[in-house]
Amino acid sequence: MERRAAALPLLLALLSSYVWTGGGRGTSPIPPPSASQLSPVASLAAAVAGGSTLDPRQLAALQSLGFPISVDPCAAPSPLGNATACDDDAPFRHLVSLRLANCSPDLDIPSTALRALSTLRSLAFVHCPIAAPRRLPPSLLASLRLFSCVASLSHLTGLWLSHLENLTELSVVGVSVSSRRGASVILSKMLDLRSATISSANLSGVLPRSWHALGLVHLDLSANRLSGPVPSSVSVLGFLEILNLSSNALTGTLPNTVGNLAELKIATLAYNSLSGPIPDSMSQLSALVHLDLSSNRFNGSVPSFLSEMKALEFLNLENNNFQGVLPFNASFLRRLKVFKVGGNSNLCYNHTLLSSKLNLGIAPCDKYGLPVSPPVDHSDSSDYSDDDNDEDSGDKGGGGGGAATHHTPSKLVLGVAIGLSCFVFLAIFLVCLSKACG
Ligand SMILES: *[C@@H]1O[C@H](CO)[C@@H](O)[C@H](O)[C@H]1NC(C)=O
Ligand SMILES: *[C@@H]1O[C@H](CO)[C@@H](O)[C@H](O)[C@H]1NC(C)=O
Ligand SMILES: *[C@@H]1O[C@H](CO)[C@@H](O)[C@H](O)[C@H]1NC(C)=O
Ligand SMILES: *[C@@H]1O[C@H](CO)[C@@H](O)[C@H](O)[C@H]1NC(C)=O
Ligand SMILES: *[C@@H]1O[C@H](CO)[C@@H](O)[C@H](O)[C@H]1NC(C)=O
Ligand SMILES: *[C@@H]1O[C@H](CO)[C@@H](O)[C@H](O)[C@H]1NC(C)=O
Ligand SMILES: *[C@@H]1O[C@H](CO)[C@@H](O)[C@H](O)[C@H]1NC(C)=O
Repeated sequence: MERRAAALPLLLALLSSYVWTGGGRGTSPIPPPSASQLSPVASLAAAVAGGSTLDPRQLAALQSLGFPISVDPCAAPSPLGNATACDDDAPFRHLVSLRLANCSPDLDIPSTALRALSTLRSLAFVHCPIAAPRRLPPSLLASLRLFSCVASLSHLTGLWLSHLENLTELSVVGVSVSSRRGASVILSKMLDLRSATISSANLSGVLPRSWHALGLVHLDLSANRLSGPVPSSVSVLGFLEILNLSSNALTGTLPNTVGNLAELKIATLAYNSLSGPIPDSMSQLSALVHLDLSSNRFNGSVPSFLSEMKALEFLNLENNNFQGVLPFNASFLRRLKVFKVGGNSNLCYNHTLLSSKLNLGIAPCDKYGLPVSPPVDHSDSSDYSDDDNDEDSGDKGGGGGGAATHHTPSKLVLGVAIGLSCFVFLAIFLVCLSKACG
């Protein structure tokens, strides 16, 4: 009761200021002269009648963030833009979720507002180009489970993020995060984390060697400047289902321990400088649906075990240095939703198993299992010429410029000749016909 009594004047003040600003709708720039006298009682009655029982301190905090309090923040959660959600506490409800979208760059979040919002479990900033608050109050840090920052909060540091220890879900996208020790410092204290996305965040350094959030299900560190190898310790993440490390500067070979990621469904390592073979242990990844190793420097042969992975639907191996004969048949490729293998100049397909109509982007093999007539190579192509006459002549027709320019006009001339003779024949026929009739 005491709390309520203390809050009442504040509430009245807020409500009156709401009326002064035209209910946040901006419909009437000039407030009615009697508003300051009439509105408090009227608005309070309206608020109570409307059932807005949000904690007055939180109502004030929302107003300081520019929320129109004409709308009951607990009653009208909007899926787009700014949104709030409340619990069912009595006598006052409390905010559990707050999302600030498209803020003005001038928005200043007062520290009193942050303290008042310490019941939040979820906090999101979307396109809010404001400076990150210097620090979040300990009560808010303890309460927050989900934190999301999309193209928001400048001057974000790894240390600042690392204080969000109780998070289960972290998402930082399109923000430059300065962190001298890369992702390690950010993730080191978040023991309950299940989903971590730090993407397009200008993150440098190496991948963490020690992992603390052993329950991670989703790890996305894509589109950063991370370098060095994929550490073999990644295999401790036994619940990992989604791993996205694409568009970084990772080097070295994939550790054989990746085979221990028994739950892995989606693995994207595209656009790095990873090298060496696809590890044999990957054959144990029986849940794998999506494998993207494109645009790296992987070499060695394409392992045939990939065609025995029952769940696989997406396989992208393009732009690497794979070599030898592609060990897949048409029925496997038909099963896949996406298969890409182009841009591997030393890889070829067996033309008795796979049709050239599949347009795989690699050459067919000769009988030694080498690509027939590599496009740029002139001197070596003659070596294959007497091995496989059909392939070779077909290839010369397409590849050799001279042959192609020779063939095309002769076909053209023949076509024109046939067309002309048909026309002449038809003309004679018509003349004869008209004479016969006439
Ligand atoms: C969210 O609120 C801010 C003020 O805090 C406002 O400028 C912005 O337009 C609102 N965005 C949406 C999508 O309602
Ligand atoms: C995390 O939450 C627990 C209770 O759920 C609390 O005891 C702990 O202090 C919180 N951690 C931080 C850093 O606030
Ligand atoms: C990215 O980080 C580097 C230092 O690691 C810094 O020089 C650069 O300005 C940052 N880029 C952006 C867009 O913040
Ligand atoms: C991985 O991250 C990249 C870059 O952020 C993104 O474009 C891509 O959709 C992600 N892939 C998957 C499978 O999530
Ligand atoms: C793959 O490339 C590495 C150098 O990056 C080389 O040492 C190795 O022999 C290559 N493996 C094969 C099978 O060509
Ligand atoms: C295609 O390859 C798969 C896996 O290697 C094999 O199980 C299947 O029998 C093959 N199908 C044909 C038609 O050869
Ligand atoms: C292509 O497949 C056929 C039939 O399976 C096989 O006899 C032949 O050796 C294969 N060629 C190469 C180069 O692997």
